[in-house]
Amino acid sequence: MDLYGRDLLCTQDWAIEELEAVLELAVKMKRDRFSDRWTSILKHKTFLMFFYNPSVRTRQSFEAAATELGGHAQFLEPKSMRLKTATTAGETIEDAAKVMSRYGAGLGIRILEDKIPYYGAGQELLEEYARWADIPIISMAHDKFHPCQGLADVMGLREHMGDVRGKKLLLTWGSGALARSWSSVQEALLISSRLGMDVTVACPEGYDLDPWVIETTRTNCEVNGRTFDSTHDPVAGYEGADVVYSRNWVTSNAYVDGALQKQAEIEIAMQHTGWTCSADKMAKGNNPYFIHPMPVDRGNEVTDEVASGPRSIIVDIAENRLHVQKAIMALTMGST
Ligand code: CP
Repeated sequence: MDLYGRDLLCTQDWAIEELEAVLELAVKMKRDRFSDRWTSILKHKTFLMFFYNPSVRTRQSFEAAATELGGHAQFLEPKSMRLKTATTAGETIEDAAKVMSRYGAGLGIRILEDKIPYYGAGQELLEEYARWADIPIISMAHDKFHPCQGLADVMGLREHMGDVRGKKLLLTWGSGALARSWSSVQEALLISSRLGMDVTVACPEGYDLDPWVIETTRTNCEVNGRTFDSTHDPVAGYEGADVVYSRNWVTSNAYVDGALQKQAEIEIAMQHTGWTCSADKMAKGNNPYFIHPMPVDRGNEVTDEVASGPRSIIVDIAENRLHVQKAIMALTMGST
C-alpha cells in the first residue's frame, strides 16, 4: 500500500486498509515514541500549517509530530499571507498552492465556524488547495470533517475496549454557548460506523447533521450488520451505550446571508435544557467510556464528575492526536 502524496480531508475517502495502516503505525509510534526508526522520516522537511481558527491540540500536536519525525512545522495564518478573498484583492489559491508545494512536504488547513460564509465552504477551500497543490493536503479540522480527530478517537477506544465492533456509540448534542461546528462529530459518526459500531445520534429538533453524513453512517452500519438510530430524547440513547460522546453543535440553519449567526445560535441552544451528560445518565449505559475531542465545555456539554471521572478517556485521545498525525505524515510525506 502506498499512501505517499495522498490528501486526507475525511476518513471516508480512505479505504479501511489505509486507515488501519495509519492506526497500526500510530500504535507502534506511541509504544516506542523516540525510536531512531521514526526520528528521520521528515528530516529536512517542513509541514505547513495554515490556521484560520485557533487551536490548542491541533497546532501543538502537529508541531510536536513534525519535531519527533525530524522535520519542522511552520505556523501560518491568513493575516501572514495576502490571499484573494470575496472582498479583497490578492493571491489566488492556485498560485499559493503551487508555490507552497515547492517549500513544504505537506499542507494542513483549519477553517471552521465563523471563517466561512456557508456550510461546505471550508470543504471547498480544501478541495481547491488539493486541486492545485503537489503535496498532501491534510484537514486540521474544517467545517465538515476532522479526520485526525476521528482516527485519534478510534485509537483511544481500542486502547481501552479492544475491538470496537459491536459496541454502541451514543453521540449526543450537548448544551452550551459555543456554537460549535459539525466537523468532529460528523467524523466520529463516519469512522465509528465504518469500524463496526452500533450508532445512535441524539439531538434536539433542528440540530440535524449533514444528510450525506447521516446516510453514509447508516450505510456503513448496514454494511457491517450494525444498527443506526436517532432520537430527540436527551436520555433514551444512553440505554446500553458503551461509549458516550457529548458535544455541542450548531443548528442546520446556522448560516444566513453569508455568515454564521452565532448569537442567534447561542440563544437557540440556551432554550434546550436537559442535554448535559451527567453521571445519572451515564449510569443507564453499559458502564460507558466518555469521549470528547476537547476543549470541553464543562458544566454544559458534560459535568465535571463525568469529564474527570474514571471512564473519561479524553486526555488519552488528545495524546493520540500526536501519534496518528505522526503516522499520517510518515505515510503521506515521509521517507520510510
Ligand atoms: N480537538 C481539537 O481539534 O482541539 P483544538 O481545537 O484545540 O485543536
